[in-house]
Amino acid sequence: MKLPFAGLIAAVAFSGTALAQYPTRPITLIVPFAAGGPTDVVARTIGVNMGKTLGTTIVVENKVGAGGTIAANYVAKAAPDGYTIFLHHNGMATAVGLYRKLSYDPLKDFEYIGQVADVPMTLLARKDFPANNLQELIKYTKLNEDKINLANAGLGAVSHLCGMMFQQAIGQKWTTVPFSGTGPAMTALLGGQVDILCDQTTQTIPIIKAEKVRFYGVTTKQRIQSLPDAPTLQEQGLKDFEVIVWHGIYAPKGTPSEAIGKLNNALRVALKDPGTVARLKELGAEIVPESKQTSEGLRTWLQSEIDKWVPVIRSAGTFAD
Ligand code: MLT
Repeated sequence: MKLPFAGLIAAVAFSGTALAQYPTRPITLIVPFAAGGPTDVVARTIGVNMGKTLGTTIVVENKVGAGGTIAANYVAKAAPDGYTIFLHHNGMATAVGLYRKLSYDPLKDFEYIGQVADVPMTLLARKDFPANNLQELIKYTKLNEDKINLANAGLGAVSHLCGMMFQQAIGQKWTTVPFSGTGPAMTALLGGQVDILCDQTTQTIPIIKAEKVRFYGVTTKQRIQSLPDAPTLQEQGLKDFEVIVWHGIYAPKGTPSEAIGKLNNALRVALKDPGTVARLKELGAEIVPESKQTSEGLRTWLQSEIDKWVPVIRSAGTFAD
């Protein structure tokens, strides 16, 4: 069997005792959005605990841009030696429909470590936005459609997907303002530089509780425990409106199965750790069932998300090169 160069290096690195001793140095966890944002929060919370089980440090590196595709491409081409891993969300699937040319294949260029947690989204506006509830928001934005700015984290980000679905649901088209993550997008919303943002509870719960923004509802079918008084967008009349953010951890294709096994074990330990679970729950995240915390669980889910979203996105006709 002919191994590609990177695979050969990994095979040599993993020969003999090196394999048994893995990991012997820090592991880099690539995050495709800005530091301090929702993906970063999930990655750092899980990463710290996984590192304890692995006996090493997991260092988060934020490689931002193009809705997460720059980071995915970087990881797809990184050395498959177990020292580069990647945490990404729905964008791993939706990018297949959104980008005309992707320089990596989510189903061929990665190993799958497991799924992490599901996170609801919330619809927000700047604090002085002149609409007290969803109906007022729809009415006001209809009258001022050409002036409304909607922040997002770029094509392929869930904030983009949620914002696109919301505009479609209410039959409006706003100006979108892309950021390198919803961390900086939130800073702009708090500063009043943009009007509206659809963002994940892992970032928004403390901000909503402190009443620093206007809040119009959650994107789940049912109300959520961490914001029990908040109505869903569905119960306010947006039939079938649902966006849930899922997260997976990946490694470059060819990463030895022994390393994937150890990383998967560390992930499953982290997802049972009471402190980690409590922290994620507090931020509205729901730990996925054990069947999804596996390589196969993530691979199968990713395939089903690609099958679900790519035709929808392509028929909506929103593309980037
Ligand atoms: C982030 O961490 O900035 C977000 O996950 C971006 C997004 O997908 O909206």
